[in-house]
Amino acid sequence: MSVTTHRSVHDQLAERLVEARARTLELIRPLTSDDIRIQHDPLMSPIVWDLGHIAHFEELWLTRNLDGEIKFVEMPGLFNPMEHPRNERATLALPSLAQILRLMADIRGKVLERLPKVDLAGGNPLLRHGFVYHMVLQHEYQHNETILQALQLKQGEPYRPVERRPLPEPSGAYGGMVRVDGGQVPVGTNDRSAAYDNERPQHLETIRPYRIDRVPVSNADYMEFIEAGGYSRREFWSQAGWRWLLDSGVSAPKYWFRQDGEWWTRVMDATQLVAGNKPVCHVCYHEAEAYARWVGKRLPTETEWETAATWNPTTRVKSRFPWGNAPPTPDRANLDQLAFDTAPLGAFPDNISPLGCYGMIGDVWEWTSSDFRGYPGFRAFPYPEYSEEFFGLEYKVLRGGSWATRPGAVRGTFRNWDYPIRRQIFSGFRCAADA
Ligand code: AVJ
Ligand code: FE
Repeated sequence: MSVTTHRSVHDQLAERLVEARARTLELIRPLTSDDIRIQHDPLMSPIVWDLGHIAHFEELWLTRNLDGEIKFVEMPGLFNPMEHPRNERATLALPSLAQILRLMADIRGKVLERLPKVDLAGGNPLLRHGFVYHMVLQHEYQHNETILQALQLKQGEPYRPVERRPLPEPSGAYGGMVRVDGGQVPVGTNDRSAAYDNERPQHLETIRPYRIDRVPVSNADYMEFIEAGGYSRREFWSQAGWRWLLDSGVSAPKYWFRQDGEWWTRVMDATQLVAGNKPVCHVCYHEAEAYARWVGKRLPTETEWETAATWNPTTRVKSRFPWGNAPPTPDRANLDQLAFDTAPLGAFPDNISPLGCYGMIGDVWEWTSSDFRGYPGFRAFPYPEYSEEFFGLEYKVLRGGSWATRPGAVRGTFRNWDYPIRRQIFSGFRCAADA
């Protein structure tokens, strides 16, 4: 990566835009125009909608709003997420695959033409350090993960990835819990180059001593919960969780099925026995909470999660990732989509935090017990529809990214959120307890 220091910020941003688009196109390459157009599940958009929305978001922020002030926050009606909730996106008169690809290329052409002339060193916080470009890049990365959720739910023939990157073998065993002292810990970041408004400002929180699992809950652990009657014993479930359970009739993680006395699962076109040594995936908040109660623990708060992931209590330094400040690579964590699976626990020996927690970045998003709220001193930037509109009690925070997350869209302070009933996301969890 030493070459990067010799290239200008403008060139780096252009390269990243090109790289992000190459990935989006690689993901959709195996799809027919029908696959792109239909809505595979009411929870997800037709993929053509995601593509048009990626393009228009880019046009909005990297051409129209680049003149210095934020004049527009609305994108054209069809691709405006607020005007058209996901479940009605199938009824929209959406463009064809060919039309949408042309639109994406046209907008990208204008963006790249303008980029070299943009002043990224001045006082405008939208442009300074390339913030708005990083925001648009992360938006495309995030919609890649949304597209992968839709592809896992795909109707008809299962999705066939162009490539499946091999995963390393486990080289260590981890287990048990780590004890963390109480005291003051920093939460969030003041970074203004790539972090979202909801990660700022960095502030101190006072925590009580706690313990947290060194590893995410594995499929083997989760099978024990199922065998112990976890899905039929009221005492492990919250009231909302029990109501969800009765309504949904669920009795195992999403995409699991039982055959010849064994649990099986499927990731895209790969059907496989559920591997005991991989983290459990596709469970909702209610399931995570019930498991934790069954095992005599609870879910961590997001402060506890972030502390376990990136805080070094000896040096009192907080890093960007569990292994330090260096960006994720394929040997550090299972991110970046191309494995199309979770990895066995212990496959990434560097993916360990100063406090000794393994696998906090990659594989599965981890549910926390925290509601999605603004940090003290929060200020919406550059638009309230990214974070602020969603603050409140309805959403739970997830941390750490999944195998389907691009590396530029996750870090120790990154906050994801979703409804506590959602299971199509690549979500697992680890447990905590009072010390
Ligand atoms: C951060 C994943 C919850 O998909 O709703 C995409 C990301 N925001 N476009 C979402 C997002 C606007 C967001 N999540
Ligand atoms: Fe979006």
